This record gives sequence, C-alpha cells and structure tokens, in this order.
Amino acid sequence: MKLLLLFGLVAVALADSFEGQKVFRLKPAIDEHVTLIKELAQKIEVDFWRPENPELVTIDIDVDIRVPAIYLDMVNTLLQQSEMEHEILIEDVQAAVEAQEDTGPSPRAHSYTKYNSWDKIQAWINSIASSNSNLISRQVIGNTYEGRPMNLLKLGKKSSSSKPAIFMDCGIHAREWISTAFCQWFVKEALSTYGQDQQMTSLLDQMDVYVLPVFNIDGYDYTHKSNRMWRKTRSRKTGSSCIGADPNRNFDAGWCTLGASSNPCSDTFCGYKPESEIEAKNVANFIRNNKASIKAYITIHSYSQLLLFPYSYTYKLAADHSELMRVAEGASAALRSLYGTRYTSGPGATTIYPAAGGSDDWAYDLGVKYSYTFELRDTGRYGFLLPESQIKPTCEETMLAVKYIASYVQKNL
Ligand code: ARG
Ligand code: ZN
Repeated sequence: MKLLLLFGLVAVALADSFEGQKVFRLKPAIDEHVTLIKELAQKIEVDFWRPENPELVTIDIDVDIRVPAIYLDMVNTLLQQSEMEHEILIEDVQAAVEAQEDTGPSPRAHSYTKYNSWDKIQAWINSIASSNSNLISRQVIGNTYEGRPMNLLKLGKKSSSSKPAIFMDCGIHAREWISTAFCQWFVKEALSTYGQDQQMTSLLDQMDVYVLPVFNIDGYDYTHKSNRMWRKTRSRKTGSSCIGADPNRNFDAGWCTLGASSNPCSDTFCGYKPESEIEAKNVANFIRNNKASIKAYITIHSYSQLLLFPYSYTYKLAADHSELMRVAEGASAALRSLYGTRYTSGPGATTIYPAAGGSDDWAYDLGVKYSYTFELRDTGRYGFLLPESQIKPTCEETMLAVKYIASYVQKNL
C-alpha cells in the first residue's frame, strides 16, 4: 500500500503541470489580429487547440489556444490593446485535467463511461476478444514505435466466404480521449445489440467491421502518464530533440503540401516521409492488403462537431462529392435526433481547414469511397477536456451516425 502511494506521488511529480494555465478563444476580425496571433505563436509557447497550427489562422474563425501561466499578463495586454474579441473557455486547466485523471492507490476497473488508461484498454481488448468467438476476433497489425502491439478487432458473424467490410479507428491524436472512448463503446454496443437490434444484426451478418481501438497507443499512454495535451506519436530521430509526428499528416495524400509542418517540433509535423510513423504504416498496409473488401473508412477525432469527407489536401471536390454530402447530412440528422447536438458536414478543406496527409483522403484515393472523419463533441466549452459525464451521451448519439453510414454502405454494396 505504502509503495503504491509512493508510486502515485512519483507519477504526479513527473507529470507536466498545467497550473495557472487558461484556454482562450480568440476571434480575429481584421488582418492585424491574424498577424498578432501568428507573431504570438512565434514568440511564446502557446498550444493551438483549434486550428492545430498558427498558419491556419484566418479572419472570422474561432482560435482556441492554451496559454502558460507566465504569459497570461502579456496575452491579456495584447488582447486589450488590439481590441480583439475573446473569451476564456477554461479558467483552470490543471483542475480540468485532474478531474479526469485515473491515478491513485486503488485503480478502478475498465469503464465505458470513464477515460481508461492504455493498460485497461489492453486488458479490455484481451477479454472482449475472447468473449464471443462467433462475433469477434482480433489480430495484431504491427507494433507501435515503442513496441506495443496494435490489436485490431474484427466484428461480424463468422463466415466461410470473405465479407465486405468497414474499417474504423479511434485515437489517431493522443489527447482526443472521447474518440478512444467511442471505439470501446461501439464494440460493446455491437456485441450487446446483435440479435436484438435489427440494423446491427443485419450489418454484422452481411459485413465485418474492423475496429482499431487506439491508433496512436504510445501517444495515448503518454497523455495519461506525462502530458495530457500530447497529440503526436512518440517516435524519435537522431538530429532532432523533438519527439513525434502528427499521424494524420503522415499519410501519402498530398503529403506535407498544405496545413502541415516540416518542423519536427511542430504539433502538425508531417514526419520525415509518408508513413514514416510505424503506426500509420501499419494501418495503411492493412487497408492496402484488404482493399478489395473495405468499402468504408471511418476515423474518429475531437473536437468541433463536424462530419468531414475528402478532400482536405486540395479544394478540389471529390468525384463522389454529392453522394458523400448526402450521406453525411443523413448521418448528422440521425445524430441530432437524440440530444439535439448539431454537426456541420462538408469536405475537410472548406469545412475546417486545408490539411494534407490525412488518413481520410489517403483511403479515398486508394478507392475506399465512403471515407469520413468525425470530430466529436464539443465545440470548445471543454475541448479536449470533455467531462466524463458526456461520454455516454456523446457515444450514444455518435452510434446513430455511424450506424446510418454503415447501413447506407450496406445497401449500396
Ligand atoms: N482535426 C483533424 C486533423 O487536423 C481534421 C482531419 C480532417 N482531414 C484531413 N485530412 N485533414 O487531423
Ligand atoms: Zn484529431
């Protein structure tokens, strides 16, 4: 007991602190405001929550940034002087982080309505995969940079012939914890509603759904143990002291041309080459190898309440634009029917910002027509620190949207 307590204290001492930090929402209205934000980003260390990169800041978009305590006075002064409209989204970042920490002497069990650590998710994968062998199986698609096995779950009624499939991943970005929670929820719902819910039954009878519960496992583990705000992978390369690349800038789709950074220290670093990140390479290899059966690709992020589809690396409309839009609007309407949560649908480049190297664009260009990126709750009140009390409603409403897309795909095989 004493030893455990001691470990608890050491873990707390090692973890980055967000003491005194605040999250601001800035509303640049004129060019000078945009310039000011970009200059600020160069001068001091600010964490861009939305957009993820200062280069993407333009007039009339909300800019959410996390500001270290020592720069608060300076930022406040600049905001007053420039008369830029703004508000404070999170008064006390450290308190918000602590509210969802899963540490302490008596570790709790895995829960669908809590943010689970990687160790708990790993144990959950092991147990759920061996629970119902008629409906679920798993395979390892490779290891992460730090050597953790990437387990892929396959849901679907066993069949002797090969079935058409949907591929879904969660947790490409480490700090987007609600995303990771959703994949676990989806697996639980699929298993528990099969044989009861007509739509789920027919889906799993006819198709397979591959679920990658955590794409960026190393990063996710790091957000639990060291830095809650980590986004990238944890890969290292000699020559740079900065760690990791953005896995969603690392795919071979207009790689590193737009909305991505070639600076290894940036949060949107595109990596040293396409698929330089082993996690992206493992996923890309799996999808390439199963290209003939994979009909849809769904990737779950947060936050902003958006349902995006290609393209993001170009303003060009996708060949299937109108169909992708129709399905996205149907899915958003289904999502909204439960709690009234409003989503915006559209191509990435115009709906959020242009950003190349994303998995959605890559899968689409490979030939996976129904390629969607979800940005789950919220719109910035809590951002990445969405309270655990919102896991259940968020997952319930998102289920409706994912099932809508899945059943559309199923009807159009
Ligand atoms: N917030 C997500 C990201 O920055 C949006 C992804 C949209 N798709 C894309 N290919 N950029 O990764
Ligand atoms: Zn993301």
